[in-house]
Amino acid sequence: MRIAVIGTGYVGLVTGVSLSEIGHHITCIDVNEDKVAKMQNGISPIYEPGLSELMTKNINEKRLSFTTDHQEGLQQAEIVYIAVGTPENIDGSADLSFVAQAAKDIAGNVEHNIIVVTKSTVPVGTNDMIKDIIQTHLPNGLMVEVVSNPEFLKEGSAIHDSFHGDRIVIGADSEHAFSIIEQVNQPFGVPIFKTDIKSAEMIKYASNAFLATKISFINEISNICELLGANIENVSTGMGLDQRIGSQFLKAGIGYGGSCFPKDTKALIQIAGNVEYEFELLKGVVNVNKKQQGILISKLNDCLPVISGKKIAVLGLSFKPNTDDMRESASILVTEELIKQGAKVVAYDPIAMENAKSILNPLVQYADSIEDAVENSDAALILTDWSEIKNVELAVFNKMKKPLVIDGRNCFALKAMENNGIDYHSIGRPVSAKLIEAAPI
Ligand code: UDX
Repeated sequence: MRIAVIGTGYVGLVTGVSLSEIGHHITCIDVNEDKVAKMQNGISPIYEPGLSELMTKNINEKRLSFTTDHQEGLQQAEIVYIAVGTPENIDGSADLSFVAQAAKDIAGNVEHNIIVVTKSTVPVGTNDMIKDIIQTHLPNGLMVEVVSNPEFLKEGSAIHDSFHGDRIVIGADSEHAFSIIEQVNQPFGVPIFKTDIKSAEMIKYASNAFLATKISFINEISNICELLGANIENVSTGMGLDQRIGSQFLKAGIGYGGSCFPKDTKALIQIAGNVEYEFELLKGVVNVNKKQQGILISKLNDCLPVISGKKIAVLGLSFKPNTDDMRESASILVTEELIKQGAKVVAYDPIAMENAKSILNPLVQYADSIEDAVENSDAALILTDWSEIKNVELAVFNKMKKPLVIDGRNCFALKAMENNGIDYHSIGRPVSAKLIEAAPI
């Protein structure tokens, strides 16, 4: 089928590329000329494993193209995907101006009946709004149908997830739209769940809010474990064996970041508020996350009462491994606070340093390797569990003034750190120095 995708951010680009890979003819439309020029040459604007390779393959096989011209992209399309951003307004609600503009662009450029599929994360009721805008601006006699088809991809494994997701949700209100969009998605081989449009819109927010809740819950349990001397890794494993709970998203750490959970949790609080429902539980989830992002600073302050003038290594900057995405990463808050307290901050990340330079405080310095970052430092903070960090030779920490590692991602076994004489503080686990003291001789 001929499909246009409006917006080539993370969701739009991955959607366009995967749809081309299963045989559809895709034109991706974006207003950014530089970006489009790069993508036409197979260069991905984001770091996502496997994405550039699939882009190049499908461009060469003539199923994937990019344009800034709405008319060129939309004229031939039988289906249009809206995948533009829905950034956070100051009050936490979703800004729908890009979605509304996409709807007007569709109406102004199509010359036949059209199915519009919304991939952007939009509040319940937005697809009705999109339908109204398009129908009002469409030439007489043409019809539009709208479908909600929310996105559940995880950054860093988005291509894999496209072909191995748990479900594809299709929200529609006509058999015609269901059957066309089902046909489009069939080749992915992923189970399809069909529902009404509003429920589909809600499934996206409810899923992200639930996963965020799991993370904030386990983070609070980890804080209590620390106070009681239990080990969160054992607790998570034991909990996750109960299939009603499930083992995923029970990894304690420094809170969730990224482009979805922070934004979508706040938006759902707003959506509920608009119908005069106070989502108390979710407000708690958001507050816990805010506190958890600062937990490494509290731990550092306990270990080193004065950090002014000290060299602090920060290892890992992206909000999670295998991405260069810095959005809502705890590294923003952590580096800002370190600088505020007068530390000399030397950061290292395998992929995200270029992005970080335009986001973090300009006083943050960047190292070429883990070794350079930790050399002669007074403490090393671990913020992202990149495999390069998890697999580093522990001897590297002997280059510090005195090995003090504060790990927000539980990258290392306590015993290994203890054996290497490293004062090691992690999340929800005993402190290795205490283990050293308590160990039988
Ligand atoms: C998330 C959802 O998983 C995805 O379905 C949705 O479409 C977009 O939002 P993403 O933001 O890419 O995907 O990353 P995810 O792997 O879900 O992690 C989000 C954050 O939660 C990261 O900061 C991660 O470190 C944190 N996290 C995740 C934990 O702290 N503990 C966990 O157990 C899992």
